[in-house]
Amino acid sequence: MFWSKTVRTFVTTALLACTTAIPAQQLINGYEPKWWKEAIVYQVYPRSFKDSNGDGIGDLRGITSKLDYLQKLGVNVIWLSPHFDSPNVDGGYDIRDYRKVMTEFGTMTDFDTLIAGIKQRNMRLIIDLVVNHTSDENKWFVESRSSKTNPYRDFYIWRPGHTAPDGTRTPPNNYPSYFSGSAWTLDPKTNEYYLHYFAVKQPDLNWENPKVREEVFSIMRFWLDKGVDGFRMDVIPLLSKPTGMPDLTPAQLENPPNAYANGPHLTEYLQEMNREVLSEYDTVTVGEATGTTLAQTNSLVDDRRHELNMIFNFDAAQLRHPDFGPPQFGPWSLPALKAIYDSHATVLSKHDWDTVFLSNHDSPRVVSTFGNDSPAMRVSSAKLLETMILTLRGTPFLYEGDELGMTNYPFKDLSDYNDIAVKNAYKEEVETGKVSAASFLAEQAEFTRDNARTPMQWDSSPEAGFTTGTHPWLAVNPNYKEINAAQEESDPASVLNYVRALIKLRSSALAFVYGDYQDLDPQNEKIYTYTRTLGTEKYLVIENFSCSLVTYTLPNGLKAANLLLSNIPRSREANVSTLNLAPWESRIYKQ
Ligand code: GLC
Ligand code: CA
Repeated sequence: MFWSKTVRTFVTTALLACTTAIPAQQLINGYEPKWWKEAIVYQVYPRSFKDSNGDGIGDLRGITSKLDYLQKLGVNVIWLSPHFDSPNVDGGYDIRDYRKVMTEFGTMTDFDTLIAGIKQRNMRLIIDLVVNHTSDENKWFVESRSSKTNPYRDFYIWRPGHTAPDGTRTPPNNYPSYFSGSAWTLDPKTNEYYLHYFAVKQPDLNWENPKVREEVFSIMRFWLDKGVDGFRMDVIPLLSKPTGMPDLTPAQLENPPNAYANGPHLTEYLQEMNREVLSEYDTVTVGEATGTTLAQTNSLVDDRRHELNMIFNFDAAQLRHPDFGPPQFGPWSLPALKAIYDSHATVLSKHDWDTVFLSNHDSPRVVSTFGNDSPAMRVSSAKLLETMILTLRGTPFLYEGDELGMTNYPFKDLSDYNDIAVKNAYKEEVETGKVSAASFLAEQAEFTRDNARTPMQWDSSPEAGFTTGTHPWLAVNPNYKEINAAQEESDPASVLNYVRALIKLRSSALAFVYGDYQDLDPQNEKIYTYTRTLGTEKYLVIENFSCSLVTYTLPNGLKAANLLLSNIPRSREANVSTLNLAPWESRIYKQ
């Protein structure tokens, strides 16, 4: 059975991609082994990580000064959010010069020092590739908007739009922007509209123009030649725009990202990128797959297609707060979360590879969203969530501060926020009277991206040791005196020390990487229990997603054998089929 499957693999591989198939004996449980499948990735948002010069803004030297901390944590790949020159209207996701470091973050020499420090520690670095759009201050756009005949005109997407008999202008279609309002802005100089799926200052590039692709490929080579190990690709399914860009239908308006994503030429662009650039280097790519359903995943990551290695599918991370559509306040459903992971395990094949994450710089804090950040439950629930992320299928991505159990910030007024998404939405929803200020602010406090962007809490000194200055660019969470790395370092029961132990355990067992996953009790509303199995090696993970004690009998007469790790230090139960689980307790057993 195994053998015949391998033969089938060989045949399809040869037919589809004309590449050499991997001999069966080199596969692990049917998967081709790769360093990035075994990696544990840690995302650094440079502005918020560590300030080295007291100006209140995190910078590259700050990151270099914390590499020992990251090495001790046990992560081996760093994903750096954009560090490029940018007017910074969208946290650096609006790039002015792709070959220059953002002035506030330092210099190219600082970047070289950072990458050298990462390599010295046998870690790797992936950087953000933001090429669906640029800043409007990018020289390409400055040229492009200057006249209809400028050689850069076709680097962006320009349309005349509609003109009513009375001269009133309206946009070419009804596309909404991710950041409120229309996705089109009329540019007075040439009297045409340009497309921007995000902010007005983030015009979308025209990927149909081969010169755009060449420029992007050359930027990629520039950074790969510096030694970066790959890219996290920002909103990558948006590169190819829908054919003809007709109005979205009412149904499509319910979920515009899905209508925008995976356009007709995406495959072609990604395969070209692979052929021209990526195939020349030992890299990893992870695409931020906005608007992409699980069923569409294979077409981006199947290793016979030579497109991306992995994507971020947002079904789990955005369970409570989709990009468009109402957020879910209050209790959420554990079976719904499990159903997402269960379907990933079913739908994705041995040729696909998954990621597992619940947080990033665009989401609220994981413990506040999926755990419980009250003083009594915060530590246990933060540990439980990290347990889940580090034992499920797929390469795990941790976000800075999650290893400390950092929480959402107590946002109150509009002036507490930095994010352009919040400011634009306020104008569109509150200032037009559609939503009351109170309910808008309540929603933002719970789900805003700024929750993730408050400075890292390093110690209990003023400004949490993030900066020696007095004005961090975004306020430090007032709970930094209790929640900070220095305090957690000295506390054996801290989230930090637990995550270190967890990473060590995951790194010691390939079953957590290549092993099969089975959910033993999908409908249980409080308990998530699953196995990871590789050959004769089997691990059982049990997680109590509730604030109550649960006496839980394992299904199918199963016994929990040797307890390897629990997030509740006093936990001892082994060789039992009924477990007494404390609130938010998680355990890992070797069977
Ligand atoms: C991605 C980034 C987000 C940014 C957007 C536009 O979603 O993660 O931070 O606002 O792209 O670049
Ligand atoms: Ca600084």
